[in-house]
Amino acid sequence: MPNTQDGEPRGFIDPIKQLPEFYDTESRVAVLGHPIHAMSVAFPIALTFTLLGADLLYWWTGDAFWARAGVWSAGGGFLLGLVAGLSGTAELLLVAGIRARTAAWSHFILAVLLLALLGVNWGYRLSDYEAVVLPYGLLLSIFCVIMVSVTGWHGGKLVFDYRLGAKKGS
Ligand code: HEM
Repeated sequence: MPNTQDGEPRGFIDPIKQLPEFYDTESRVAVLGHPIHAMSVAFPIALTFTLLGADLLYWWTGDAFWARAGVWSAGGGFLLGLVAGLSGTAELLLVAGIRARTAAWSHFILAVLLLALLGVNWGYRLSDYEAVVLPYGLLLSIFCVIMVSVTGWHGGKLVFDYRLGAKKGS
């Protein structure tokens, strides 16, 4: 049976799409119409990649500077990730059309896993930041980069494929 333009089997009615609020997806957590979540996610994403870079440079040079850079990147990534997570969660709970979509909840689950990994990575480094880099600090950073890539890519899908948080075209 051929699919409709939406990719659904012909004759299939998605009950979620029938909800009157399904297309109410405009951002409510925004400054002058610019969503705070989209503005804040850049920081944890960049710091997570910086963290892996610092660990690799520590492995290569043995210079304690890079181990210290790792602690700060992990801490900054985690704390700014919480800020991004708070704005994302507010958006998820406040906007009915976002709350109704499974994809938004999948993004939430991925993001919480990422934040847990960043928190563990930071906490692990707080005692002897140099000794913990090899091998487990580095391994944790590799997991963090994988998770931030998946979460960020998926967040982009929410905006570019489903137009969540975007203004309606005029
Ligand atoms: C913890 C709870 C989180 C929730 C509930 C959440 C929810 C959302 C929602 C609803 C959107 C669609 C745009 C909007 O409405 O603002 C979005 C976009 C996005 N999210 Fe999250 N998010 C969370 C955490 C994170 C984290 C920790 C990251 C990465 C560090 C992240 C990365 C992204 C990215 C890259 C976008 C696309 C932004 C754009 O291109 O405009 N999210 N998120």
